[in-house]
Amino acid sequence: MQRVETNIAGILPSDRAGTIPDGIEEAHTGFLSAFPAYKATSVLDDLRKREFSRLDETGHVYLDYTGGSLYSSSQLTKHVDMLEHGIYGNPHSNNPSSLAITKLDEHARNTVLRFFNASPEEYVVIFTQNASGAMKLVGESYPFDKDSRYLLTFDNHNAANGIREFARARGAAITYVPVEAPELRVRSDELQRQLEKTGANGHKLFTFPAQSNFSGVQHSLEWISKAQSLGWDVLVDAAAFVPTNRLDLGTWHPDFVPLSFYKMFGYPTGVGCLIAKRSALKKLHRPWFSGGTIKVASVQGDRYFLAEGETGFEDGTINYLSLPAVEIGLQFLTSIGMDTIHDRVVSLAGWLLEVLGGLRHSNGSPVAEIYGPRTTDMRGGTIAMNFHDPKGGVFNFHNIEESAGKFNISLRTGCFCNPGAGEIAFGLTRSDMSECFEHEERASFEQCIIAAKGKTAGAVRVSLGVASNFSDAFRFIGFCKTFIDRSASPS
Ligand SMILES: Cc1ncc(COP(=O)(O)O)c(C=O)c1O
Repeated sequence: MQRVETNIAGILPSDRAGTIPDGIEEAHTGFLSAFPAYKATSVLDDLRKREFSRLDETGHVYLDYTGGSLYSSSQLTKHVDMLEHGIYGNPHSNNPSSLAITKLDEHARNTVLRFFNASPEEYVVIFTQNASGAMKLVGESYPFDKDSRYLLTFDNHNAANGIREFARARGAAITYVPVEAPELRVRSDELQRQLEKTGANGHKLFTFPAQSNFSGVQHSLEWISKAQSLGWDVLVDAAAFVPTNRLDLGTWHPDFVPLSFYKMFGYPTGVGCLIAKRSALKKLHRPWFSGGTIKVASVQGDRYFLAEGETGFEDGTINYLSLPAVEIGLQFLTSIGMDTIHDRVVSLAGWLLEVLGGLRHSNGSPVAEIYGPRTTDMRGGTIAMNFHDPKGGVFNFHNIEESAGKFNISLRTGCFCNPGAGEIAFGLTRSDMSECFEHEERASFEQCIIAAKGKTAGAVRVSLGVASNFSDAFRFIGFCKTFIDRSASPS
């Protein structure tokens, strides 16, 4: 049974902003020869100085890009400039201020389509509050009934898990396809079997993430056309994929793609979208109507006609002043090139995986247990782990976040709203989970897993993005080294 440490907070020294860590030059040379693709991404070093100077000015190591990316300074300047020089009113009108913002918002909508190479004949962009809002739109409107199925992978964000409650309420069959440790990839034989399973003759929805927000695994986009050829509608959650990978909707044709823009370029928050196939949208039945979504509605006539296309799915007033900032953010990424961002992130992830995986206590036991693939093949720059002491005891992940904070490192801990991947990674079984559900409070739920099962209920996650550099990775490894030969037991 693994022992779980309860308190390491407060024993680590604070890092000083602006200091150059010992040994970084030598390590950098080794890194460049192992990951030569990184050299071609030097434009991002210039950009870090120009657009993200606040990171080095404050000595901050930001490693939570899967939580939210960072915005560049020029995005803010451009947006404020636009706001300062225009008169913009609510877009649901034909007055000049309304027409002015409508023009900018529609331009932003078209820019989203162009960014993802999505044909306007095939796809529409529905602006939402975030990726979760986009998934809820699908869940609440999908024609689930007792003849239909909802199929999803264990590895999914809770917004995808949440769709199961709409499916359940309408009597649809719900099936999870497992992922397998240690790589945490989908069991493809089981997925194929489930996709081919006959019986239900109603509508069928299949949901998977293009990239896991837990392990960084990239699930094959080939599953999209395979599933569609077997009669499935396919929702690909792109929220963790699109910040550092190119999603080409001229090559891949999923029915629904939810995402959040702040995860791509940090600002604005509060805006996401559902990119939906026009044909798939026709299958959805909205459970209500509101301002903005109707062609006409009447009180005495007791009827309404929903507007066509994206309009019927955008409730009330959209976040109209922020949408031009979405276009500015997409232009920022385009000016760098998604391939450049991708190459940098994958190189840094590759180095982190190698060095982290090689850290040892004096007795030879590993310092970090990494969940998910150990190579850069079909994975992105998100790495989940736990830290072990020389006897195999696990350091408490909550305390690690606090300790990292003392080093001015922002990382994330917990299960990252992806319980399925976590349960497989931590070896938690169906019966473990059922028993612990007797505890309604999160803290006591986690305590149940730790105390009764001797297993951890969460992990530490670092994720890389557009402003990451080698120094960030190196300083994180420096933090990890502080666990060498330390005991996880409270002293
Ligand atoms: C893969 C994935 N899907 C969906 C979401 C939900 O995004 P939001 O909280 O912006 O709705 C996240 C957030 O971390 C995510 O990583």
